[in-house]
Amino acid sequence: MKHKALYGTHDILPDESFKWQNFEDKLRSIFALYNYKEIRTPIFEETELFTRSIGQDTDIVQKEMYTFLDQGKRSITLRPEGTAGVVRAYLEHNLGKKAPLVKVYYFGSMFRQERPQKGRLREFHQFGIEAIGSTDSRLDAEVIEMAVKICEDVGITDYRLHLNSIGCPICRPVHRDKLLEFMRDKVGELCDDCKTRFMRNPLRMFDCKKKECAEQLRDAPVMLDFLCYHCRFHHDNVKRYLDGLELAYIEDKRLVRGLDYYTRTAFEIKSALLGSQDTLCGGGRYDLLVQELGGQSTPAIGFAAGIERFMLAMEMKKQSDEQQKTDVFIAIEGDDARALSVKLSRDLRHKNIICETDYMYRSLKAQMREADRQKVKKVLILGEEETRKGKAVLRDMQTGEQKEINLSEIERIWL
Ligand code: HAM
Repeated sequence: MKHKALYGTHDILPDESFKWQNFEDKLRSIFALYNYKEIRTPIFEETELFTRSIGQDTDIVQKEMYTFLDQGKRSITLRPEGTAGVVRAYLEHNLGKKAPLVKVYYFGSMFRQERPQKGRLREFHQFGIEAIGSTDSRLDAEVIEMAVKICEDVGITDYRLHLNSIGCPICRPVHRDKLLEFMRDKVGELCDDCKTRFMRNPLRMFDCKKKECAEQLRDAPVMLDFLCYHCRFHHDNVKRYLDGLELAYIEDKRLVRGLDYYTRTAFEIKSALLGSQDTLCGGGRYDLLVQELGGQSTPAIGFAAGIERFMLAMEMKKQSDEQQKTDVFIAIEGDDARALSVKLSRDLRHKNIICETDYMYRSLKAQMREADRQKVKKVLILGEEETRKGKAVLRDMQTGEQKEINLSEIERIWL
């Protein structure tokens, strides 16, 4: 074979393109529910648009952009992300004049020259949304809730929502000074990149994945503890609305995003289904970017997600769902229970119920751990006391609910 797809790029072949279409259809209907309309922007833009938006000191700008000179010697960059192009289009076409709040979504290829690995490509596809024009913390909650809904609607339930606030130009310098003071005598232990970050953009140090840097930053002051009154108020409201929506989140004080345009709310959704590249989607507020790119002061918020990562997580979820699951694990304690389990297991199996028990003389606690490891649906606990009284405890491993049952009732429960 003479020609191959370049390292870090991939083809979407006819027997998988339907999955992409189904996923995109589902997304389009969700975007419509929240009143977002599609925008399509060019795949390449002036380099300066990205350096100004994403920030000179970020890994994306420093190391990852595909930048070249065109025939007219203009510096051009293949878009590494979608927000900068959307804001450029918003300004160029005066979209803010047509509606006070502009809500758009997009799909498309993005390009970053990273070291490819599972879930990390050089040409990858994102979907994203941007809502430009409002500071309302209800919008933050709405955007985050939509990202969560997308995960749930495509069946990804193993996710964690991380939330932080990274403040604004009023509170950041106070934190920056504290951080610099704390790290001053630790700089020598940091990686070369973090040494530069310490000088130019200290908050970025939290973004470093290297162990030695994380160790030095372990007790470092975090932005969340230095929010000014208005950022604190905004953040508390976002949390209040998320609580009202009963959305569980982890307040992650060390979450800083890989792009410099963020202010206040920053969030990511991660999934253990993905391995080391575990971020499904990320976003936040960027209240200063429109002005930074030449417009009037206009607050905004958005997020983007990697489609390949969603596909991967959906596939992993399907595989784990398809794995044979034990219906019931009989956990036993004492000789009576041990003897009883022989007949009980046989009876359940004869009723086509997949059943397992302990043959390793483990403690009840260790048996519960084993049941958890095997991801069984229910555990029937035959404790010493209960068995003597003809009773058992039935625990639903998904909900954690437990109830005492009579052993004579078992057939009824499973029939
Ligand atoms: P980001 O965190 O750089 O944010 O990227 C968003 C998502 O794109 C990541 O969570 C990940 O799923 C996916 N992604 C990033 N890099 C790669 C890669 N090399 N290979 C595969 N997937 C990747 C942004 O791009 C912001 N523009 C998000 C945003 C929109 N913030 C506000 N509005």
